[in-house]
Amino acid sequence: MPVSVIIGCGGLAREVYESIEAMTYASTEFLREPPEELAAVLASSIRFWSEIPTDAAPDGQPLYRPTQDDDAIVAIGDTRTRKRIMETLPVATWFCVYDQEATRRETDRERMVAVGCYVGASAVVGPNVYLGRGVVIDVGATVAHDCVLFDYSHVCPQANLCGGVEIGEGSFVGASAVVLPKVKIGAWATIGAGAVVTKNVPPGETWVGNPARLMVPRW
Ligand SMILES: CC(C)(COP(=O)(O)OP(=O)(O)OC[C@H]1O[C@@H](n2cnc3c(N)ncnc32)[C@H](O)[C@@H]1OP(=O)(O)O)[C@@H](O)C(=O)NCCC(=O)NCCS
Repeated sequence: MPVSVIIGCGGLAREVYESIEAMTYASTEFLREPPEELAAVLASSIRFWSEIPTDAAPDGQPLYRPTQDDDAIVAIGDTRTRKRIMETLPVATWFCVYDQEATRRETDRERMVAVGCYVGASAVVGPNVYLGRGVVIDVGATVAHDCVLFDYSHVCPQANLCGGVEIGEGSFVGASAVVLPKVKIGAWATIGAGAVVTKNVPPGETWVGNPARLMVPRW
């Protein structure tokens, strides 16, 4: 079944688009006017939308809503926005896109529940990994065996989740961060790029560095 709507038109949406193109899906749409250079490479069958759907129009209504006939994926890096869109928009199917160059092990299919997820090129998803709704595993990231990634969490390029790691709802793991085995990252936490996380991170906190520590706000 083809993906008919990609919600978003930033860098992540372009990656998702490339993955879909490689899978020869047809009839892809973007919901925001794309940059000119992107427009040049997109097929003519693609329709463009001037606003993302949760941007309220003057009358308070979203400018576009995927219909019941659409299969959609939210390709927006901000985890709160992803959650907002997936919770507000009725669609027939939130589609999952796995890049054909991603490696995905599924020794326990029962546990693998993936709805509206994106797994980018060269990413590796190990055995017995659980993916919640709208999870993004970006290019080159590694999610080893027995990890649990709750809804809307986001693993940036080249990040490395060792075995048995838990990533809470909406949490964001920065590029090239490493999370050591069995560490739990609380909901809506942020892990800075390049951090090495050796201990559990409480919900909502931002941790950076090696070993990672709480980032203290300057104000
Ligand atoms: C951690 C992060 C969210 C903090 O962002 P921020 O709140 O805007 O923080 P600032 O840039 O104001 O930096 C605050 C301080 O933390 C330091 N800092 C920021 N990010 C850091 C990181 N990843 N590792 C170590 N220190 C970091 C800054 O040097 C600065 O230190 P200073 O006060 O001594 O000058 C961000 O820097 C980050 O790492 N984001 C991940 C980005 C990423 O991986 N994107 C992937 C895109 S594909």
